[in-house]
Amino acid sequence: MTITFTDATADIIKAGGTAVVLVGGDGKLSGSASAANEAMGGALQRALDAKSFKAKHGDTMTFPFPGGMKAERLILAGLGKDKQKATDARVLGGKIGAALGKLDDPGATVFAGDLDASLVAELASGIKLRRYAFTTYKTGKDADKLGKGGVTIAAADEGAATAAFTDTDALAEGTFFTRDLVSEPANVLYPATFAERLEDLSQHGVEVTVMGDAELEKIGMGSLLCVGLGSQHESKVVVMKWNGADDAKAAPFCAVGKGVTFDTGGISIKPAGGMEEMTMDMGGAGVVSGLMKTVALRKAKANVVGIVGLVENMPDGKATRPGDIVTSLSGKTIEVINTDAEGRLVLADLLTYAQREFKPAATVNLATLTGAIIVALGNYNAGLFSNSDELSEQLADAAEAEGEGIWRLPLSKEYDDLIKSSLADMKNVGGRSAGSITAAQFLQRFVNDTPWAHIDIAGVTLMKEAKPLHPKGASGWGVATLNRLVRDNFEPKSTA
Ligand code: BES
Ligand code: MN
Ligand code: ZN
Repeated sequence: MTITFTDATADIIKAGGTAVVLVGGDGKLSGSASAANEAMGGALQRALDAKSFKAKHGDTMTFPFPGGMKAERLILAGLGKDKQKATDARVLGGKIGAALGKLDDPGATVFAGDLDASLVAELASGIKLRRYAFTTYKTGKDADKLGKGGVTIAAADEGAATAAFTDTDALAEGTFFTRDLVSEPANVLYPATFAERLEDLSQHGVEVTVMGDAELEKIGMGSLLCVGLGSQHESKVVVMKWNGADDAKAAPFCAVGKGVTFDTGGISIKPAGGMEEMTMDMGGAGVVSGLMKTVALRKAKANVVGIVGLVENMPDGKATRPGDIVTSLSGKTIEVINTDAEGRLVLADLLTYAQREFKPAATVNLATLTGAIIVALGNYNAGLFSNSDELSEQLADAAEAEGEGIWRLPLSKEYDDLIKSSLADMKNVGGRSAGSITAAQFLQRFVNDTPWAHIDIAGVTLMKEAKPLHPKGASGWGVATLNRLVRDNFEPKSTA
């Protein structure tokens, strides 16, 4: 879907197709809304007077074939009474996008009146985020319509809105990258093809390096590599570097992602029901990839390193067995009790590598790590675990500002004791209780004192229902939060 901007002199009376006009929470019709009202013989004012349309934030009302206008339909969209924040405008855009998505021709002109340029840009990206569709494998007529249609936005300051859209669109494009990766099936997206897609980021100025089995073995990533032994596909670790800070040597922000392109559980095999969903088990790596694309597209003045571990977890004669003991890159040994607890084995080596290689200012890892986090938090909040109150607060603030749910859970010695092993330095599972926490404790064993956070996104990566800012399916949860975290804490404050 394409978005273009035009200036506020665009005439709502002459707009064809669908015309959308914003109405403030005070219910006063001005500008384009008042022009439409006049053409329609006062119909909009009557809808407001009758409280049929209350102009609350996100309310929409459709008038088919409005009299006196060229448009086939007019959609009123309520701004609400409160002063608009960025995410309010984005969510309103999402609701407009949802309304447009139901139409045969989803193209439209949106009359955004005198909304601030930055809010117009948020509104535009909201429409785009909601109208996302993964159509690669749809053939036939329906496919032509899905996610298509151009939207023109009439803004008071067309130039300023277009400029502001560069940043908000960078986030939308990065989020789409994540959603595309998460949606791809595992016969198409396996470690090598995933790595190829990441190599494409070099066209945006990201430095991309790919390491395969031989090199990973030489480095000593015995924990990560043991996960892929049952797969026909070679494992890959991809390092993506964006050097945007004035000081190219400044300690980077480091994002680390679990990229299990398919998870059968391995020898500790999962039941068949729902196993197809495990194509999304690379969701953490997907978010890291989307973040890298976003910071590159908006030319962030920060040094950001993204590291993803791409592995397929399959059962086979060569696969790792329950009871096997592996040596991680850190030198610590791990008794693999359950081969289905593979994500932490991948992340362990990546965390060691990140710290050794980059001495980051902060490290955040993301992973669809445990089913237990869905039991605890459902599909509304990702689980946050951290050794730093400061980083936790920064993440919570960023998530709140972006309208993404996150909730912190505890770490402590008692939980850590649950992963003691009698044969090795630790085991990879801690029993039935506190499953998400013992997984986090396992990761923490590979982190020194540098600020670190682990975000368990198992419940928020693939959504059964649409929300204002995404359709059903891959949400892209986390790209917005991490992008904001970088912008607010690892970049010089913009003077704008
Ligand atoms: N990828 C899964 C976790 C998961 C579950 C992600 C549901 C998304 C939706 C992970 O590798 C896994 O299998 N975890 C096990 C851990 C257990 C063996 C300790 C789980 O949650 O059952
Ligand atoms: Mn698993
Ligand atoms: Zn998994």
